[in-house]
Amino acid sequence: MFDCLSFADVHVHLREPGFTSKETILTGTRAAARGGYTIVCPMPNLNPVPDSLETLSVEQAAIDRDAVVRVLPYCSITKGRKGLELVDFAALKGRCCAFSDDGSGVQSEDVMREAMKAAAREGVIIAAHCEDNSLPGTDPRSEWGQIQRDLELCAETGCHYHVCHISTKESVQLIREAKARGVNVTCETAPHYLTLCADDVLDDGRFRMNPPLRSAADREALIEGLKDGTIDVIATDHAPHTAAEKGRGFAGSAMGIIGMETAFPVLYTKLVRSGRISLERLVEAMSTAPRRIFGLPDTPDDRVFIDLDTPFVIDSSSFASKGRSTPFDGWTVYGRIVKTIMNGKTIFEI
Ligand code: DOR
Ligand code: ZN
Ligand code: ZN
Repeated sequence: MFDCLSFADVHVHLREPGFTSKETILTGTRAAARGGYTIVCPMPNLNPVPDSLETLSVEQAAIDRDAVVRVLPYCSITKGRKGLELVDFAALKGRCCAFSDDGSGVQSEDVMREAMKAAAREGVIIAAHCEDNSLPGTDPRSEWGQIQRDLELCAETGCHYHVCHISTKESVQLIREAKARGVNVTCETAPHYLTLCADDVLDDGRFRMNPPLRSAADREALIEGLKDGTIDVIATDHAPHTAAEKGRGFAGSAMGIIGMETAFPVLYTKLVRSGRISLERLVEAMSTAPRRIFGLPDTPDDRVFIDLDTPFVIDSSSFASKGRSTPFDGWTVYGRIVKTIMNGKTIFEI
């Protein structure tokens, strides 16, 4: 049996408050424990949006009541995630893991510059969903064009800029070059961008997410970026929706797939067992790097135990998440999470 420091997912959607038919703090954190995670950071596309101490306290109350793993929420960058008026970074710092308008890109360069200045002043992280709404999301430039803009702003302001779910080869190269110049940038990608591409897409909501699955060349560039350290973190972008919302075919379904209960086995099987990356690199990207980069609590008594040798079939009907939509359903994989320990206490065991 293999064991290591438990995983930390810096990009999840737990949907509470506001969208509890999709997921709740309870079901989402149970899914985390089943996936080997003991720390998760939920994004702020909620109702109310956590953009003030008052609205954040609604989410925090649900966390305090129901969470079975450590939950460190994001606050939004702009009020209501509308991209116009900045939140009060000084007031919210210390109560959230970072700031993000995830779900939308910050369209205005001026707003992003002011956000980065405030973040630099307060020593907090801007985590950006990069998407230029003037281009189709299927155009890779929609992502990398905004990353290119933001890397300039990051160099100018000196803030810590973290790029969410990168999916294109140009994004990898831009971030690689910026890091070489000393820009204060980190980034994540998600398991699906490392293991699938547009050729795998079926007419099924299970393949619908934003950013979309790109080309095989993009997938290969992401693996190279993970190998050489350009990509720091693997985060799932666990984005549950109801069966109805995901049941309208590829074009008609809501964007987002669940991820926490499949991340390690899928990545271990496709990247480690195939010899593309080492097990140590995978554990670093899922456990130690997210803690270090986001300054998450040091939790040496959080462990995950994993069976690396017995194949099993992914069965979404067994998930703790309310979400069921995953492109990995039915895959035969290795790396089953057997036990998750938080603070020395077993929180999941098969
Ligand atoms: O696929 C996605 N789902 N991308 C996003 O940016 C948002 C997320 C969600 O909240 O469902
Ligand atoms: Zn996003
Ligand atoms: Zn997201």
